[in-house]
Amino acid sequence: MAIRQSIIIDCDPGVDDALALLLAFASAAELDVLGISVVAGNVSLTKTQYNAQRIVALAGRAEVPVHAGAAEPMLGSLQTAAVHGNDGVGGARLPAPAAPVASMNAVTYLGDNLMARPGEITLCCLGPLTNLGQAIARKNDILTSARQVVLMGGAAEGGNVTDNAEFNFFVDPHAARLVFNSGAKLVMIGLDLTRQVPITRARLDQIAALGNKAGKAAHEMLAFYSQADTAMHDPCVIAYLLKPELFSGRDAVVDIEIDDAGRIGQSVVREIPEGGRGNALVLDMIDADGFFDLLCERLARLP
Ligand code: BDR
Ligand code: CA
Repeated sequence: MAIRQSIIIDCDPGVDDALALLLAFASAAELDVLGISVVAGNVSLTKTQYNAQRIVALAGRAEVPVHAGAAEPMLGSLQTAAVHGNDGVGGARLPAPAAPVASMNAVTYLGDNLMARPGEITLCCLGPLTNLGQAIARKNDILTSARQVVLMGGAAEGGNVTDNAEFNFFVDPHAARLVFNSGAKLVMIGLDLTRQVPITRARLDQIAALGNKAGKAAHEMLAFYSQADTAMHDPCVIAYLLKPELFSGRDAVVDIEIDDAGRIGQSVVREIPEGGRGNALVLDMIDADGFFDLLCERLARLP
């Protein structure tokens, strides 16, 4: 049996973030969710925080702390995403929070935990990387204390906000650049991969048929979200921790564009030059059926 992994989930729920949280909570034998740090992204920080609290309540895991982090990107102002609806969860009926937001700021929480347990904690990043960027600004080698950083963001080709940029990197390109230059062990899951796992009508029906509260809520959220985006982006990060054999990719050099206004937030993925070193494992293939089987099997375990 594999060792249980200690993880912190940095997120901006967000429908697909919510699904990722549920997948993690449903996998307690493999994943010890130490805490959740939230950031502004898909919707404002007030909303991402509230949604994280409600997902924790839905999963019956009120003991998992939710820490609030950055309300704005490192530079410039926040751009939100319409696909998650005005409240960030597609208007789904979710339970009220069962616990208050933790008093410690997310950036302090991330830094303190990484320093206290060097090499042990996996950071799962599902939103703009502002909290991590701010942690690096405080202590520039902080992310090298993570066991690994597995993040959803970027693309080797194309984008979903502009022709070149994916949402999480577009919203805070400066933070993304700090993370990719941090020396941390990085795993990048971009649009090239997440677009291989669209939520179809048949998969939606399968989730609705689970019959538990989590399945009903997941169905409500996804029914709204899938009208505008079908890719199950963020749950891929958690699925990678649970079943890495579903994924494949290659080590590469990734740079984040911050200067050229037309390409801001683009992740430029290059082959490693001979004798050089990469800075990320870039995953680009997933077994879609294996992913959805895992997701449905796990969601069924929740209340
Ligand atoms: C990413 O952007 C957000 O809208 C999703 O939650 C996901 O993290 C996909 O580009
Ligand atoms: Ca997200």
